Amino acid sequence: MCGIVGYVGGKAAAPVLLKGLATLEYRGYDSAGIAVWHNNKIEMVKAAGKLQVLRQLTDEGQSVPGFMGIGHTRWATHGEPSDVNAHPHLSSSGRFAVVHNGIIENYQQLKNRLQRRGYEFVSQTDTEVIAQLVEYYYNGDMLDTMIKLLNALEGAYSLGIICLDDPEHFYAVRQDAPLVVGLGQGENLIASDVAALLAYTQEVYYLDDREIVVLAADKVEIYDTNRDAVEKQAQHIDWDVSAAEKGGYEHFMFKEIMEQPDSVRKTLSPRLQDGQIKLDDFNIDVERLANFRKIYIVACGSSYHVAAVAKYILEEATRIPVEVDIASEFRYRGPIIGEDTLMIVISQSGETADTIAAMREGRAHGAHVLAIVNVLGSTIAREADDVLYTWAGPEIAVATTKAYSTQLAVIYLLALKFAGLLGRLTEQEQAECYQALVNLPEQLERTLQDKEKIQFLASQLYNKHSIFFIGRNLDYAVAMEGSLKLKEISYIHSEAYAGGELKHGTISLIEPGTLVCTLATCDRLIEKIKSNAEEVKARGAYLLAVAVEGDERLAGIADAIFYVPKTLPWLQPSLTVIPLQLFAYYVASQKGCSIDQPKNLAKSVTVE
Ligand code: M6R
Repeated sequence: MCGIVGYVGGKAAAPVLLKGLATLEYRGYDSAGIAVWHNNKIEMVKAAGKLQVLRQLTDEGQSVPGFMGIGHTRWATHGEPSDVNAHPHLSSSGRFAVVHNGIIENYQQLKNRLQRRGYEFVSQTDTEVIAQLVEYYYNGDMLDTMIKLLNALEGAYSLGIICLDDPEHFYAVRQDAPLVVGLGQGENLIASDVAALLAYTQEVYYLDDREIVVLAADKVEIYDTNRDAVEKQAQHIDWDVSAAEKGGYEHFMFKEIMEQPDSVRKTLSPRLQDGQIKLDDFNIDVERLANFRKIYIVACGSSYHVAAVAKYILEEATRIPVEVDIASEFRYRGPIIGEDTLMIVISQSGETADTIAAMREGRAHGAHVLAIVNVLGSTIAREADDVLYTWAGPEIAVATTKAYSTQLAVIYLLALKFAGLLGRLTEQEQAECYQALVNLPEQLERTLQDKEKIQFLASQLYNKHSIFFIGRNLDYAVAMEGSLKLKEISYIHSEAYAGGELKHGTISLIEPGTLVCTLATCDRLIEKIKSNAEEVKARGAYLLAVAVEGDERLAGIADAIFYVPKTLPWLQPSLTVIPLQLFAYYVASQKGCSIDQPKNLAKSVTVE
C-alpha cells in the first residue's frame, strides 16, 4: 500500500524523503513523488514507475532544495498509475501539497461540490479532493482548516500536508491508516511505518485517530479536534536500522527465512520461565477461560493460515469450539458473538483494514479480543483488549515468513497455557510440550541447513505451470501457506487441498507431469495421505513429499522427499513450512521474479 514520509529539520529534505521512501518500497507501489517547500515555492516532482525514476529526475534529491517536505509511494486505487495521478497533489492555486494513504469514500460527492464552486481537477484520484478541500477551508488558520477537513472526509486515511504560507511547519493526521511520528534532534519526521524512521531516530509517537500533528524542526505539537493540546508519551523502538536492511543477503525474504530460528527464540524464550508459560499481561485464569463458549480466530492471508493451524491445536487443547474466519468475510456475515466469545485476531502489521474492522465488530458485540501482532503500537495492538507480540523484528519482504513462524509460536504458547489451565494435559505431557518449545529454534536451524537440496529441486521444477499442495489435518493448514507462498512470489498457479477432498473434483486436473507436493508429517494420518498420494501418482503426477526424519512410508511413491526434524504433532507445522518457504523462494529466484516486491501486492493491506 502507499507509503508516506515527511521531514522538517536541518538536513536537505529531498534526499531524506527519497531514503525514507526507499525503506517503504516493500509496501508495494507503482508511482512516487516528493514536494519540498523552498523560497516561497512548493517544488514538486512525481512520476509513474519505481523510485529510481524519481531519483534520476531529482538528481538523487539534489535538484530539489529545501528543508521541509513530504514524499509518497502510491499503490493505485483511484486512477491508473501515471505521472498525474502520482502524489503529492497540489491544490488549484498551488498553495497546498498533500500526500495520502487510504481511501476517501465520499470523494465523489466532495468533488462534485468543489467543481460546482469552480475548482478544477487534473487527476482521477480521491487525494486531489483533499488538496482542493484544504484550500477551500483555509482561512489563515491551519489547525482550524485541518479540523474542518477531518469533519468532511469519510474513509480511511493518513495525510501529510504542507502549506506555502507556513515555511516552518507541516501537518499530519490519521484516521484508520498507519502513521508514526519520529522525534529527532533538531528534526522531526512522519512515516507510514517505523522502518523509514530508524535511520534518524528510535523515539516515536504513535498517533490516535483524528489527532492533528503540527511538526516543526524543534518541536511536535498534537491537537484534538477541539483544539486542545494532546500530551503524548514517546515510545522507544528496539529495532535498529540494520534490522530493516538486507545485511548482505540478496533478498529480504531470504534474510527473513534465515532469521526464523532467532525470531522464534525471541518470541518464545521470555514466555518460557521455570517450566511455566507466562503470557505477558494476558492474565487468563481457569474460571475466565472456562467461561468462553466459543473462540473465533480472524485474520487475512498468511495470518489466516496460522489461524487454520490454530483451529486444530486450540480445539484439541481446550475442547472449546474454534471457528476461523477470513476477516473480510467475518465482518459481513453476522457472526454470533457475545461476552462468552474469545476472539483472537492475528496480524503481522496490525494495520490490515479488514482485520481491524473484524476486530471492531467483535468488540462491539462484547467479545474479548486477544491480538497477536508484530508491530508495536499498531492499530490492532492499541485497540485489542490484550496483545501478545510476536518478536519477529521488522518484516520487509511482502511474502511473510518469520512473522508466520512467530505467530505459530504464540499459538503454541496459548495452547499449552490453556490446556494446562483446563487440566487437559498431564504434568508429564506439559513438561514434554515445554521442552519441545525450548528445542524448536534449534530444530528450525537444523531444517534450514538442508536448503541446498531444495534449491536443486527448485532448479529442476521451476518451469511447472501448476502445482497442488495436499495434506491432512495440520498438514492441510500448512499446505495452504505453502501454496500461497509459491503463487505470490513465483506467479505459478497453485492450490492447496485437503488430501481427502481431491477426488471430489480437483483430481480431474492431474495429468502426467503435474507437480503435487504431499505433506505427510501427521503420523496418525500417514496411511490416509499415502493413499491420496498414490491416487495422484497413478495419474502420472510428479510427487514431492515432506516427511519427518526416519519415516520412510512415502519413500516408494514420492519422486523426491524433504525430511524435517520430528517434534510433537502440535509443533510440527513450524518445521514443515520451512521447505515450502525455501521452495517458493528458490523457484521465484530461478524464474527471475521480483521476490521482495511481487507484482500487484502490498505488504500491508490498509484498504478494504
Ligand atoms: O499484516 P497482516 O498479517 O494482517 O497481513 C495479512 C496478509 O495481508 C499477509 O499475510 C499476506 O497474505 C502476505 N503477503 C502473505 O505472504
